[in-house]
Amino acid sequence: MEIKIQPATAGQRRTKPADESKLVFGKTFSDHMFITKYQSGRGWQDARIAPYENLSLDPAAMVLHYGQGIFEGLKAYRWHNGDIYLFRPEKNMERLNRSARRMCMPEIDVPWQMEILAALLKLDVDWIPHSVGSSLYIRPTMIASEPALGVRPAQEYLYYIITGPVGAYYPEGFNPVRIYVTDEFTRAVRGGVGEAKTMANYAASLFAAEMAKKKGYTQVLWLDAVERAWVEEVGTMNIFFRIDDQLITPPLSGSILPGITRDSVLELARHWGLPVSERPIKIDEVIATIRSGKMREIFGTGTAAVISPVGEICYKDQLYRIQDGAVGEWSQKFYDEILGIQYGEKIDPFGWIRKVTF
Ligand SMILES: Cc1ncc(COP(=O)(O)O)c(C=O)c1O
Repeated sequence: MEIKIQPATAGQRRTKPADESKLVFGKTFSDHMFITKYQSGRGWQDARIAPYENLSLDPAAMVLHYGQGIFEGLKAYRWHNGDIYLFRPEKNMERLNRSARRMCMPEIDVPWQMEILAALLKLDVDWIPHSVGSSLYIRPTMIASEPALGVRPAQEYLYYIITGPVGAYYPEGFNPVRIYVTDEFTRAVRGGVGEAKTMANYAASLFAAEMAKKKGYTQVLWLDAVERAWVEEVGTMNIFFRIDDQLITPPLSGSILPGITRDSVLELARHWGLPVSERPIKIDEVIATIRSGKMREIFGTGTAAVISPVGEICYKDQLYRIQDGAVGEWSQKFYDEILGIQYGEKIDPFGWIRKVTF
């Protein structure tokens, strides 16, 4: 489908941050956005790239009442030679469509999503930062825009993409996080919407996250909602354990978001011949293993940080340090490899990177 392009005029352009090293995540947005409307029976129409602007929504727009909204998060990387690359973008686009199906929303053709993204990046290429570690964060979003009350799937939707430059996650090297295990609150339950990247999951996580912050912790470690015994995720990341020389991560059971970084770490580990196990793991096993000294590393994985080493865990008011809070060898190795592939500094044997051609 044709994408109408309305470039920003000089007066509509936004101020670019002068100092890339001072970028704060999620605060700065590029000049343009993509937007298209969906109507049941007519499909996606009116696709355009226009200057970044406010949305106009009816106060009865269904997303504002029933939360029918999904999103994605991926990045565009500028290599030393100036070329622009994406990392496994089709995985995000397929996940958007899986989220859409789960939330009774319309899907969007993956090749069309790629075409849209390339057109948007072409216009805002100057917004992609230059230093390794910094990138252009891309936020595709779909919301139910039909003005109607009454709980049912909407018949009208908006799909839009905004982008914005983000700085290096670790400008001064890894910073192991302190995490708080909550057995009081849960994020998602099997059969619910935990494996969809839908807005409600993030709203549901806020209360426990704030509580953890007040207690001095960076993130919450989520347990399963039924037994409050099995480890699921950490903050908005998937979680990995290195017990002796085995890498363990909980299986995708329905309540966990299938992270693309998680999948990349698993593929890399298998490629390197590391013993990998996707198996359920109880918090009691985690604690016992830390106590026995066999827990060599714990880390989270996600697009924002790539790898986030865990230094300390608080469970039932007891604090446990993982290997004196030092950064683990595997955490560093996965981080260096994935970042290296994303910035063209390491060979990509998996066919993960996609050059954006303008
Ligand atoms: C709840 C949750 N889990 C895990 C992840 C990690 O997913 P990815 O590696 O695709 O960024 C994210 C981030 O998108 C998330 O929001």
